[in-house]
Amino acid sequence: MKVDGKHFRSIWRERDGWSVGAIDQRRLPHEFIVAKLTSCDDAAVAIRDMLVRGAPLIGATAAYGMALAMREDSSDPGLRRAYATLVVARPTAINLKWALDEMRATLAPIDPVERAEAAYARADEIVEQDVEINRGIAANGLTLIEAIVAKKKPGETVNVLTHCNAGWLATVDWGTATAPIYLAHERGIRIHVWVDETRPRNQGASLTAWELGHHGVPHTVIPDNTGGHLMQHGMVDLAIVGTDRVAANGDVCNKIGTYLKALAAHDNNVPFYVALPSPTIDFAVDDGIRDIPIEQRSGTEVTDMTGRTADGRLETVRIVPEGSPVANYAFDVTPARLVTGLITERGVLKPDRASLAAAFPERTAASAE
Ligand code: MRU
Repeated sequence: MKVDGKHFRSIWRERDGWSVGAIDQRRLPHEFIVAKLTSCDDAAVAIRDMLVRGAPLIGATAAYGMALAMREDSSDPGLRRAYATLVVARPTAINLKWALDEMRATLAPIDPVERAEAAYARADEIVEQDVEINRGIAANGLTLIEAIVAKKKPGETVNVLTHCNAGWLATVDWGTATAPIYLAHERGIRIHVWVDETRPRNQGASLTAWELGHHGVPHTVIPDNTGGHLMQHGMVDLAIVGTDRVAANGDVCNKIGTYLKALAAHDNNVPFYVALPSPTIDFAVDDGIRDIPIEQRSGTEVTDMTGRTADGRLETVRIVPEGSPVANYAFDVTPARLVTGLITERGVLKPDRASLAAAFPERTAASAE
């Protein structure tokens, strides 16, 4: 998508052909800085410290991390070490393991001397595939927005609520939840996005607002607790969020607070959609609430906030009393019964076991092996 008229992706292979460039998302919205990843450890740290984040981008970074690892040591133990280092970088987004499994399936059977080149080629494919998948999500999600337009009075704006950042910054390009929004905007549909700030790391306020603003999509940042009020007053036509893992039964794991938005949407008859690329489905997990691991992050994300001061400096301040314990669960699970539909590259699906399995038979077969 565009940053002030110039097209950007969140991650790319640098001109030298081997190092990897990525936007440092910890510095947005205040500074646009590109980081250079030159080793498997760099990639693992970038994922762990959230220089890159968002399930599909975590997967893409891990794929390039494997390629960087193969330059360092392409032996069988080197391959095993790289996989083990990267797979534990963050626990909840299944795209990480999916990408590493794809890389390993390509690399394990071939001669170690060929592995580095093959790894870059496969990582590039994973990256391009992400963009293609998101184009599919855009087209399928657009039909939902167009159906709302058809019901509205001429000239009225479609209001979408989203949580966290499931935008192009969280993927390679387009985003998942934002893909239909960008396409609708491109088609001239009047669209406005309510952006949940998404405490504690504020991915909505810092990242979604930044990318929508730089692409020219009308939006308003709201405190996390505002969504229910807006829904009660008819100010939200539909909610679209992303996800880090969808269980085989259609339960959806996403950034903490998503579940509360789904409850409010249910109570107010607001359609609640989840946009996802198929690598986010985990057919090995039967019940999302019981079995998806929920990352717990540092308490400093809750106690501290960073922002720009009036004189232009970045400063971190404490907002919680010294000594008060805090809890920082990074994700929650929304039960399938609260989800109106899953927007995938193969259509808008019912959030249930049969629909997921029918749409992605090759994935169910693979997970049974
Ligand atoms: O902790 P984060 O910022 O990686 O969490 C991101 C989300 O929760 C996104 O909604 C999810 O990864 C989907 S991104 C297309």
